[in-house]
Amino acid sequence: MLEAFRNEPFTDFSPAHQAQAFKEALKRVEKELGREYRPIVGGERIDVDRFAPSVNPANPKQVIGIVGQADRELAARAIREASEAFRTWSRVPGSERARYLYKAAALLRRRKFEFSAWMVYEAGKSWVEADVDTAEAIDFMEFYAREMERLEERQPLYRIVGEDNELTYIPLGVGVVIPPWNFPLAIMVGMTTSALVAGNTVVLKPASPTPVIAAKFVELLHEAGLPPEAVAFLPGSGGEVGDALVEHPLTRFVSFTGSREIGLRINEKAAKAQPGQRWIKRVIAEMGGKDAIVVDSDSDLNAAAEAIVVSAFGFAGQKCSACSRAIVHEAVYDEVLAKVAERASKLVVGDPTDGATYMGPVIDEKAYLSILAYIESGRREGRIVCGGGKAAGDGYFIEPTVIADVEPGARIAQEEIFGPVVAFIRAASFDEALRIANDTDYGLTGAVFSRSRAHLERARREFHVGNLYFNRKCTGALVGVHPFGGFNLSGTDSKAGGRDYLLLLTQAKLLSEKM
Ligand code: NAD
Ligand code: ALA
Repeated sequence: MLEAFRNEPFTDFSPAHQAQAFKEALKRVEKELGREYRPIVGGERIDVDRFAPSVNPANPKQVIGIVGQADRELAARAIREASEAFRTWSRVPGSERARYLYKAAALLRRRKFEFSAWMVYEAGKSWVEADVDTAEAIDFMEFYAREMERLEERQPLYRIVGEDNELTYIPLGVGVVIPPWNFPLAIMVGMTTSALVAGNTVVLKPASPTPVIAAKFVELLHEAGLPPEAVAFLPGSGGEVGDALVEHPLTRFVSFTGSREIGLRINEKAAKAQPGQRWIKRVIAEMGGKDAIVVDSDSDLNAAAEAIVVSAFGFAGQKCSACSRAIVHEAVYDEVLAKVAERASKLVVGDPTDGATYMGPVIDEKAYLSILAYIESGRREGRIVCGGGKAAGDGYFIEPTVIADVEPGARIAQEEIFGPVVAFIRAASFDEALRIANDTDYGLTGAVFSRSRAHLERARREFHVGNLYFNRKCTGALVGVHPFGGFNLSGTDSKAGGRDYLLLLTQAKLLSEKM
């Protein structure tokens, strides 16, 4: 019998043999850099005219891979072929589909360091952040496979005399999967394999900065025996192929994770029925955040400061769950600020292939310039107490930046920066801190540090975010433990890694037979 789900353990790199093994994986991957990857449609690699390099954000001259770019025509063909493949894949029993995921998870577990090493090069992740990403990818497959098996069991219905009744969950059709680059393995794997195990076929458009990791994962799915026509691999510019995929009349659903701007655009485009379309398209859209950690006057200040630093600067703040606002009770504001600034100033920023690096680069030039511009706004809207600009190196390195005395309505306190910047906001009371925390368009994660039961209970009821944490960091949701998704303009609250998730990718059919 299959074991119960349990989370993949994270690697401890402190023993010398683990660090050595990871260095060897980095060397092996380095030898593979610069290869060519082409789109895969209908199970075939497609010859295309245009290629784009994927580069290392720590060293943009280093090419990770040369990636064939799909155009609108190929996007439409991918949807048509996926629709054709749906006829057979949708009839494969759920428990059999689950076995492909168990196999892929086992393969990924064996090649954990190799996949993590690809993320160090292509996404600029530190060893630890890459390892966590790979572990989460394994978790998603193990979890959704078990969920599919659970969903296959009959839902208990009330019996009535003379009828045999059954409720089954059947797949939807062709799903367009559009993941972000910031969890280039975990989120991409979770979105793709949940759709597949539920019996849908998938057109996967990887994020433009991280297509090679996605290509490696599609190869792994093939190695696990997945019929190659069940998932099309369609690298290309979102601006060019995005609309063609979303608007196609044979597209049944779109599973998107990314920015609010693109998520809302997809939602709008998908809502318009196209000639020949026979359904209302479903949209799962998980988007940005402006997440806050509230620190009450009676909290453990060291623990709060540590949580703010880890949540704000892990992966250079490039997490939807990252803490970008620290809302601190005035009685302890100066002390918490000093503790955070002290810790942040000691973080090692640099080349992520070095195991001592805590924070690597930000993802690309566009992000680099945008974050630096936000820091300049912050200089006017507050007081820089740590960092405040470029960090040394040839890549897109930015210093961990702490900006004090920011007003709740300031630009840097309202807009998602998606970089290593945290704004400190002073609150006169716990009530005011909660009010400020909720005063945003978003509602993804949040945390409260307090020793007051009454305050924690209030926050439980009033802090309006999809993932609320007490006396801990606001990042690092675990599959099956902390189902993940946000309120308001953070998204559709799909709760990835939770027991309701596959319902979004299936439709329930009631069968009733008179006896
Ligand atoms: P993005 O919106 O720029 O891109 C996301 C994906 O959309 C990419 O694959 C991109 O190629 C594609 N895309 C771009 N234009 C498109 C179009 N017109 N039509 C269709 N697809 C298009 O976001 P990003 O920079 O990759 O990711 C960062 C954002 O993702 C941040 O806002 C972050 O908060 C959010 N995010 C949210 C979650 C969550 O679970 N809520 C998780 C991770 C990241
Ligand atoms: N699941 C990721 C986290 O919680 C986004 O940090």
